[in-house]
Amino acid sequence: VNLLSVASEMYPFIKTGGLADVVGSLPAALEQYGIAVRTLIPGYPCVLKKVSERTVVKTFENVLGYEVTLWSGVSNGQQLYILESPQLFTRTGNPYCSAPGADWSDNGLRFAVLSRIGASIAQGCLTDWAPDVVQTHDWQTGLLAAYLHYDAQRTVPTVHTVHNLAFQGIFPQTCLHQFGLPDEAFSFDGVEYYGQISFLKAALQFSTRLIAVSPTYAEEIKTAEMGMGLNGLLKSRSSALVGILNGLDTVEWNPLTDQSVRFPYKVGDALGRAPNKRAFQAEFGLPQNKDTFLLGLVSRLTTQKGIDILADIIPDLCEMNIQLVVVGTGDPALARRLSALQNQFPRQVACYLNYSETLAHRLHASVDASLIPSRFEPCGLTQMQALRYGSVPIAARVGGLSDTIVDANSAAIAEGVANGILFTPTDPSTLLGAIRKAHSLFKQKSVWARLQRNGSLHDVSWLGKAGDYSKIFMELAGHTTSLSE
Ligand code: ADP
Ligand code: GLC
Repeated sequence: VNLLSVASEMYPFIKTGGLADVVGSLPAALEQYGIAVRTLIPGYPCVLKKVSERTVVKTFENVLGYEVTLWSGVSNGQQLYILESPQLFTRTGNPYCSAPGADWSDNGLRFAVLSRIGASIAQGCLTDWAPDVVQTHDWQTGLLAAYLHYDAQRTVPTVHTVHNLAFQGIFPQTCLHQFGLPDEAFSFDGVEYYGQISFLKAALQFSTRLIAVSPTYAEEIKTAEMGMGLNGLLKSRSSALVGILNGLDTVEWNPLTDQSVRFPYKVGDALGRAPNKRAFQAEFGLPQNKDTFLLGLVSRLTTQKGIDILADIIPDLCEMNIQLVVVGTGDPALARRLSALQNQFPRQVACYLNYSETLAHRLHASVDASLIPSRFEPCGLTQMQALRYGSVPIAARVGGLSDTIVDANSAAIAEGVANGILFTPTDPSTLLGAIRKAHSLFKQKSVWARLQRNGSLHDVSWLGKAGDYSKIFMELAGHTTSLSE
């Protein structure tokens, strides 16, 4: 089965979050199940630079008013199509904004063009290759299914993966024709959303199947509390919607071969982590003490991630003589708050307020516990990275976090199945309570070691999960089996 995956980011070429990780790691996992993936991404400068060996497959003179060159190339084992359009994508830095909170004003057009080209490939515009199924990801590729619907040419089944319902791609009605959509599309059963155009709604409305990135998230998004206004539509499409948990690239995330880990160790070797903790404390100017409870957080700095909630309780943590290292970037106001706390408690709080793959990997190999106080979390990859590297996750009981973490309540400890700490609701006092509990478990060496061991044994790979995806792709491509088998 040939699959075209279309996305706005893909690791290791361009990444702002877990979306890129998933788009980058799923193809290799799918290959083992007989799905051959080609991925279409925008030609941001860093992408064109990283994929230096490529050839032009087609040029388009006018795609919604823009010239487009479509390249194909193989890099890092990935079969890529790269959409080059200098006016739209030759901008450095973040793919969506010039600065945090300052989205590019033409984002609608930029990603409409991406979706339009994806649809054209699906419809067979390339002479040598066409997909049997198309997979789209998040709002940026949401119009693809709408184009296929309204074009009435070769129809190809589409699968839309919902990574985050909070980003909806909403633009004024006046853009309808610019986006190449017919008047009839601006309706309740089209792309219209409260008087505007929503790319995400288009995907939810027109994709053949919908996949949420965890089973719990698939349920949450059908509720008014977590459906972000799209719960009604999602409910009406229940029969097309399933949740499949994300996996992690376990080759990339292996503490024995990870170049970012100072003292490599085998998955599950808790003792082997000790020199990493010492070195990490030194790197961040914190007192080197193995008995001091060292917490870490790697995150986008946003309200989704509960960074404000964590900031609220940092003074309490410092009173408990806990250390905290934050690696994160995002909302400048949150970054300023964290900086101020670092200045106030320099021997306990250390921040690297930027993006660093190296530090993200090194952190999970070094800290005792990783914090994930999210208000909502479709899947979450950092808890999987923590589990695999022997850092115990302390996480909110939402979305994919509750699908991966087994809370250390007394029954789970007695049964020996716990691998982390879950708390709810996501508020400062509950988070503080969870950290206190973790701190007391940390002092009980054998209990803590068991949590770490269970975490490292937890299967965070794509195995099985990619199998679930492949069953859907195969079924849609007219091959074999249905999901229930
Ligand atoms: P989200 O996609 O919502 O940001 P995920 O947990 O799914 O959350 O994925 C986040 C990914 O981005 C993880 O791979 C994490 O390690 C990485 N990440 C987040 N912030 C940073 C940062 N400042 N530096 C390096 N990696 C980061
Ligand atoms: C989104 C979600 C995150 C998920 C990631 C990959 O960014 O916020 O929870 O893990 O997509 O699916």
